[in-house]
Amino acid sequence: MAEFRITVIPGDGIGPEVTDSACEVLKLVAKTSGHTFTFNEVMAGGIAIDTCQQPLPEETLEAARQSDAVLLGAVGGPKWDGLPGNMRPEAALLGLRKGLGLYANLRLAILFPELKAASPLRPDLVEDGVDILIVRELTGGIYFGRRGLAESAETLEDGTPKGMEAFDIETYSEAEIERILRSGFISAMERRKKLTVVDKANILETSRLWRKVTERVKMDYPEVEVDFMYVDNASMQLLKRPTSFDVIVTSNMFGDILSDEAGMITGSIGMLPSASLGASGKPGMYEPVHGSAPDIAGQGIANPLATILSAAMMLRFSLGLSKEADRLERAVKQTLADGWRTVDLAQGDKKMVLGTEAITKKVMEAYLDE
Ligand code: IPM
Ligand code: MG
Repeated sequence: MAEFRITVIPGDGIGPEVTDSACEVLKLVAKTSGHTFTFNEVMAGGIAIDTCQQPLPEETLEAARQSDAVLLGAVGGPKWDGLPGNMRPEAALLGLRKGLGLYANLRLAILFPELKAASPLRPDLVEDGVDILIVRELTGGIYFGRRGLAESAETLEDGTPKGMEAFDIETYSEAEIERILRSGFISAMERRKKLTVVDKANILETSRLWRKVTERVKMDYPEVEVDFMYVDNASMQLLKRPTSFDVIVTSNMFGDILSDEAGMITGSIGMLPSASLGASGKPGMYEPVHGSAPDIAGQGIANPLATILSAAMMLRFSLGLSKEADRLERAVKQTLADGWRTVDLAQGDKKMVLGTEAITKKVMEAYLDE
């Protein structure tokens, strides 16, 4: 029986509530599987700014590095919105991603059959189910490029002084592109073997390099059908024919935007898990796709299912416990099939609407019932 160290970063808003739920579920998984999980809770985000004047204390990064996996709730909130970029809660996320070398962000957009009515798309468009995996590059591109802000000496055509001028540079190297493409191809091989590379190759040099590297890397995965799509078209096709996508691989910025769109198509962003992975053998980080939802924090009504499903991804990718991961995912599906909902998913029958703790208990019961 193995022993695993899990770093827990509850963060802000509903983060503590949903991570509590996932930890309860993980304790049950440990108990029933005979493995030992030790949890080490550390701070990041707004709470860390309030407590130790920095979004990502060195101890937090160090604890994360020393563990087998990291479970994160969410960071951020209006309270810290006025702070400069490197002092905002979001800087903690970027620091964790870079500090742990988490270059591959796997975001699922799944339309659970029971929740079809929640999709904002017309029923005929989602009838065949939506199951898209967005593989987003997470440690490069414009998020981590050089940036700057300075007074410009120039004027517009009509003589108006430009005033302050800012820039953010997008850079991608072949090696960075190749490793994220491989994550995409490997995921596609495990799924429906279809990979869409999303870029803006009609404009961006970085995108043209992505295409060139794809042409080379795809030789190693002859079974995978590859197509290229400009990001503007992709955002349209996601709405027009969402069922036709399998795996999308894309840059940091495009992945950020398209993963929100894909999540929304499922109508239940409160259900979507994510994994951020680096080199094999290094800790991965797992977090729900929804944010810190400060408007409902502390009320006990947050949907913990995305975090529980993120914990399932952790079991699979970082702890090598795929049987337990499958069982946990089935337990979540069973809970929905039994009709239980959190308030964000509710349609009609109020009797079936549960709070965070109560729906967590239902998932645990379903897990035990197997
Ligand atoms: C996300 C978020 C983050 C990002 C923010 C909070 C820094 O939007 O994880 O998608 O842009 O990556
Ligand atoms: Mg985002």
